[in-house]
Amino acid sequence: MCGIVGYAGARPALDIVVDGLRRLEYRGYDSAGVAIVCDDELLTEKKAGKLANLEKTLAERAGGGTADPGAGPLGIAAGSTGIGHTRWATHGGPTDRNAHPHRSVDGRVAVIHNGIIENFAKLRAELEDGGIEFGSDTDTECVAHLLAAELDRMRADGQPAGPPLLAAAMRAVCRRLEGAFTLLAVDAALPGVVVGARRNSPLVVGRGTGENFLASDVSAFIEHTREAVELGQDQVVLITADEVSITDFDGAPAAGKDFHIDWDASAAEKGGYDWFMLKEIAEQPQAIADTLLGRLTDSGEIMLDEVRLTDQDLRDVDKVFIVACGTAYHSGLVAKYAIEHWTRIPCEVELASEFRYRDPVLDRSTLIVVISQSGETMDTLMALRHAKEQKARVLAICNTNGSTIPRESDAVLYTHGGPEVAVASTKAFLTQLVACYLIGLHLAQVRGIKYADEVAAVVAQLQEMPDKLRTLLTAMEPVRQLAQDLRSAPTVLFIGRHVGYPVALEGALKLKELAYMHAEGFAAGELKHGPIALIEQGTPVVCVVPSPAGRGMLHDKIVSNIQEVRARGARTIVIAEEGDRAVLPYADHLIAVPRTPTLLAPLVTTIPLQVLAAEISAARGYDVDQPRNLAKSVTVE
Ligand code: F6R
Repeated sequence: MCGIVGYAGARPALDIVVDGLRRLEYRGYDSAGVAIVCDDELLTEKKAGKLANLEKTLAERAGGGTADPGAGPLGIAAGSTGIGHTRWATHGGPTDRNAHPHRSVDGRVAVIHNGIIENFAKLRAELEDGGIEFGSDTDTECVAHLLAAELDRMRADGQPAGPPLLAAAMRAVCRRLEGAFTLLAVDAALPGVVVGARRNSPLVVGRGTGENFLASDVSAFIEHTREAVELGQDQVVLITADEVSITDFDGAPAAGKDFHIDWDASAAEKGGYDWFMLKEIAEQPQAIADTLLGRLTDSGEIMLDEVRLTDQDLRDVDKVFIVACGTAYHSGLVAKYAIEHWTRIPCEVELASEFRYRDPVLDRSTLIVVISQSGETMDTLMALRHAKEQKARVLAICNTNGSTIPRESDAVLYTHGGPEVAVASTKAFLTQLVACYLIGLHLAQVRGIKYADEVAAVVAQLQEMPDKLRTLLTAMEPVRQLAQDLRSAPTVLFIGRHVGYPVALEGALKLKELAYMHAEGFAAGELKHGPIALIEQGTPVVCVVPSPAGRGMLHDKIVSNIQEVRARGARTIVIAEEGDRAVLPYADHLIAVPRTPTLLAPLVTTIPLQVLAAEISAARGYDVDQPRNLAKSVTVE
């Protein structure tokens, strides 16, 4: 939701913090701000809109373009301790005054925050009763005032001045907060110190030499250090240039989880593409290959990453629920076909935001598969917690190592897709599919339904996919041309059957979120029950066709559906296997994809739809990576 960066070291903090924010801007871009401690003065700057607005203001400030009474003797660029924030608004609109950091009344403490403080109305009323005037509509501002009051109280009590004081004050404040938060704070009286806290929201530490970092995710500091510490739930961390110390909210020493970041630094940059999304589409063959890497043991068994479930637990499973949101939900819809086909266990797919509210019937023999790229999606996290309360087993598919969802699950299979910066999910979707296939095979094997050689045969088919995808990606020029043709279409419909149906839903979602066009995905057989009335002369209909080598009936049925829409004036865009001659007479545009086994087909048929949506968005002049109203990681329900 929001991106957070903190720095304590010897270098100018402003540059490091702003660079970090640039890498985190995918998390939210309603406003941005920084607070730098310089010569025991606290200097802040914040601006509504994208980070570029803040950078412009900072540049003017550096060039003396604005008269700034708070510029300090050395100026904001000189301080070597700082925090920065890029926001996705929750409490209070995206304005300058609501941008973070928020300062205490005396201006000496600054706070940034990701999450929602659920008891903020009560805290605000209490602070206002005490005479504090609020300068914003945010829940975060409460924390700045509470922290300043706590520091005053501790100083008045004679507690020794020094870095631990800020951590102690933060702990006292956190004990009063309800909800989800990552908080960072600096105090003008304590130059060289940044304190952070987390509950239900991400925070990682980057350990440098003579400098340390805090951030919502490692991409913010990957160019400075690859040694990181993941903070646990309800922990407070204090960093200085030479120290990282972690405690729980009661002050007991605690340890985070150390890890080494092996992502390529260039993976977090655009690498020559106009948009991160296009780069991430192109990275899909590698992402799939990486997700498959090392999954088969010598004896042909599939390995998950972190397993706190026994084989007997998996043999006892009598029902699978897949729970996820958005694109991740679509990967679950595909998985249902594979899991039921391979394991013969009933499998339901649920939107995480609905799951717990309908009070599903769960018990110890229910397996919940939660799918999340970020590992922080609040809807999915809450569904997971509900499932655990009902004693169900939870297996997570996740792209973000150490995030909350895998940490709270009984088993994890990480998709090794690398950082996904564009808001619209692409490589996460394909790697989630691969992970779902692996889980389906693992379940089938553990339950004795598939032999090791049968599992190995499907894994071998999966291992052929990266090359097929590379070939397909070189043939996207007709899709780009088609995007120019479709850029002014009032509506685009997508149809598919079997695993092609979720692909149709995903194609429509991509077009809606990126090009702001009306788009709908339908099960092709459902058209005749209503939606076919939408078709007018020239309405584009994208048809996802299964392999003719698969179940013939399936293929024939969709060819009939294509004829039906064409007979009513639709302009058909047919995605079909190369050599599929049956569709030729009914395709106004044909996009051929490599031959692929039926259940694995979404790995190829999705790619042209991703490219189509990105190119239409660009042709309409929109920001492909940061579509309006959206954020990469949605940490509110
Ligand atoms: C769409 C998209 C979203 C996410 C959804 C879940 O392109 O990216 O629909 O798939 O918000 O996010 P994660 O996977 O992080 O839980």
